Amino acid sequence: MSKISLPGLIDPHVHLRDPGQTQKEDFYTGTSAALSGGYTTVLDMPNNKIPITSLARLEEKMTIARQKIVCDVGFYFGSVGDNFEEFEKVRGKALGLKLYLNETTGNFLIDKNSLEKIFKAWPTFLPILLHAEDDAVDLVLALMRKTRNRIHFCHISTKSDLAQIIGAKEEGLTVTCGVTPHHLFLTENDLKNLGSFGKMKPPLRSKKDVKFLWKNLRYIDMIESDHAPHTIEEKQLKNTPFGVPGLETTLPLLLTAVSEKRLTIEDIIRLCHTNPAKIFGIKTDSDTKVIIDLNASYIIYNSLLLTKCRWSPFEGKKIKGKVSTVFIRGQKVFEGGKVRVNPGFARVLFRG
Ligand code: DOR
Ligand code: ZN
Repeated sequence: MSKISLPGLIDPHVHLRDPGQTQKEDFYTGTSAALSGGYTTVLDMPNNKIPITSLARLEEKMTIARQKIVCDVGFYFGSVGDNFEEFEKVRGKALGLKLYLNETTGNFLIDKNSLEKIFKAWPTFLPILLHAEDDAVDLVLALMRKTRNRIHFCHISTKSDLAQIIGAKEEGLTVTCGVTPHHLFLTENDLKNLGSFGKMKPPLRSKKDVKFLWKNLRYIDMIESDHAPHTIEEKQLKNTPFGVPGLETTLPLLLTAVSEKRLTIEDIIRLCHTNPAKIFGIKTDSDTKVIIDLNASYIIYNSLLLTKCRWSPFEGKKIKGKVSTVFIRGQKVFEGGKVRVNPGFARVLFRG
């Protein structure tokens, strides 16, 4: 029997673009892509066209989501250091605070001098997620020695940044980190073929960096797809927006790595379920699960993707291991490549 059951997977880092940029993705297409990729829960970033930096905007986003989602969705809150009065109001509604210390899509950079004030204003039991590279990692670690926040470094991609975080873990700081599938399965050499379709932040790295990530997987707490859809037309622009979609290809790539003995199924459960559930306070139940056919092989084709942007940097890649059926709370939500429930079936998550 080649079928196995995994607990419902959690993608702790997606950009579903709704509201504001629904030409790229919306809550229905994004959560459909999640189910197709074996995820039953996704956590959505706040860098919408109008960033989610007030309770009113968070509630508006939740209301829109409730009508469209087919997998469970939790939300992060955003800040550029000018909305402290909102922090208390979103307690329980936001699963974490996302801050951008380096340039990326959207204009959401924070002034590094306001970091300490933000750290002190945010409730210490809720994680702060950071887009931080190079010097910004040092800065944050130095600050963590003064404050008591729980810090999650998103999409760690270089040997030097991961080495810093390993040191911080050994020092006993409350720090976690994630890596993306593109930083595990692609290198900067792939840019030749991918062109602007391989442009994201952080960028693709050297073979040496990628090797270091694989070798130190035990220090990595989770896999985050950083699903960042942009339309094909947008990606063809000279000034291309950063980001690649990933919801439908992450688990298949990880399963293929299992078939090549580079990873185990237990690693996938730890990285895509147990750790994100623990770190972001997500309750799980045994009737929420994903049935995988380990022996099924197929090729990734753009035309079969459910994401609205309908492209992948992994198009043409041969995969071993396929999502067959997905259940949420006992209800069959996905089978045979199709979503089996109506928009609005799933839940918006809260944290007590
Ligand atoms: O490449 C990226 N795209 N990196 C990010 O951090 C943001 C994302 C986006 O929103 O498109
Ligand atoms: Zn992101």
